[in-house]
Amino acid sequence: MTMQHPAFAKGHVAVVTGAASGIGLAAAREFARLGLCVVLADLEGDRLEAACQEVRALAAGGEADVVAIATDVSRPDQVESLERAVIQRFGRVHILMNNAGIQPGSSLFGPQANWDSVLAVNLMGVIYGTRTFGPNMMSHKDPALIINTGSKQGITTPPGDPAYNVSKAGVKAFTEALQHELRNTQGCRVTAHLLIPGFVYTALTANGRTEKPAGAWTPEQTVEFMMRSIERGDFYILCPDNDVDRATDERRIAWAAGDIIENRPPLSR
Ligand code: NAI
Repeated sequence: MTMQHPAFAKGHVAVVTGAASGIGLAAAREFARLGLCVVLADLEGDRLEAACQEVRALAAGGEADVVAIATDVSRPDQVESLERAVIQRFGRVHILMNNAGIQPGSSLFGPQANWDSVLAVNLMGVIYGTRTFGPNMMSHKDPALIINTGSKQGITTPPGDPAYNVSKAGVKAFTEALQHELRNTQGCRVTAHLLIPGFVYTALTANGRTEKPAGAWTPEQTVEFMMRSIERGDFYILCPDNDVDRATDERRIAWAAGDIIENRPPLSR
């Protein structure tokens, strides 16, 4: 893939949370192929090390540096250490992708612990990441991106799994607030983007399946769509999919998204 957007220039620095698997890993791979330095942030373990080695191999031959930094995004102290380590090593960040997420399932009056963990990872993880990395990113007067991974479930709020729906509705609201803040900050060239994947076949959604169900996207397709949308300057990166109830889904998303904020802010002011 070739990218014209200046944030994707060779040697730039991308931090991806939830990078050991699925959409985050596919993004890390694509950023490395473009020649960016990539920081893979995920829970400590062999999966993270294996992902880092794989991504590093893609960057081989280039100048780009690929590192894994074990981070639990639901822990503000760990997100702060991540930021310190990244700034110490690379000096700055051009792309922050707050993508780590869990979906253990929940019910309204089910265990509080479920609500706590889902909100801590999916919503507070995005908030900690943005608030920790944001000021430094905004202090540089050249284009940079903050990409937060939401979900259609945060917009259409289907029945079942209310904790996940609420966490992703929060990510949408937070990212819209971020976009307003960025636009209202004089000289700031950071743009926010809300990735709204469709049904993507990953560890999160496999549910014991060993093959991608018809209609599901691969993480690579999702990342390609994301990159194209960013290239166009879209704020809402709404991946289409083959939902049975697609018409309703799209109407509700258009209602929730379209009227609140124009989708394509200018890249520079
Ligand atoms: P995945 O399960 O393949 O990857 C999620 C990654 O997040 C894993 O590597 C996991 O270790 C990491 N993670 C979990 N808790 C963490 C924590 N506390 N700190 C750091 N890392 C942590 O799932 P997938 O599908 O790639 O999900 C990525 C994002 O996309 C999530 O936010 C998910 O909610 C969202 N999403 C996924 C959809 C799908 O159909 N797969 C649809 C809509 C949204």
